[in-house]
Amino acid sequence: MNLIMKMLAVPAAVLALWAVNAQAATNDDIAKRLEPVGKVCVQGQECKGMDVAASVGGGGGMTPDDIIAKHCNACHGTGLLGAPKIGDTAAWKERADHQGGLDGILAKAITGINAMPPKGTCMTCTDDELKGAIEKMSGLK
Ligand code: HEC
Repeated sequence: MNLIMKMLAVPAAVLALWAVNAQAATNDDIAKRLEPVGKVCVQGQECKGMDVAASVGGGGGMTPDDIIAKHCNACHGTGLLGAPKIGDTAAWKERADHQGGLDGILAKAITGINAMPPKGTCMTCTDDELKGAIEKMSGLK
């Protein structure tokens, strides 16, 4: 191979690698999107795939509605496993009174409590985002 050919071959190889990588990333993204949502996680166990599902939202900037729809509604929509229902302010208030207010139940939501998984499975949610979702579901401020 002469020098010119070598100089051409190297960038071509890099380009080919890059193309393969880009393809892999795309397939990964598709796989993530196809992950089943609403898996039930148990407190104290690793919640596999949840971080992946959580990141599909695009990393930050999720509204309380986005978070609720994606993470909380699975249980809090129907009261699954004894979860306080969305909009049932009395049930949420009773809990808040018990835990010392909204920040008290926020703390429980972060660590998890009984069948309530840590962060309600939204592992990329900030405390503020979780709080927004709790305010919205409970109607408490
Ligand atoms: C896998 C089902 C499930 C998901 C998903 C879930 N929760 Fe819960 N949550 C529960 C259950 C069950 C309880 C009641 C736990 C208990 O007191 O035994 C609960 C309780 C809570 C409480 C009250 C805690 C307390 O101190 O009484 C808060 C706050 C809460 N969830 C927030 C959230 C938020 C925010 C999300 C979404 C980001 C979420 N949950 C997602 C099942 C779930």
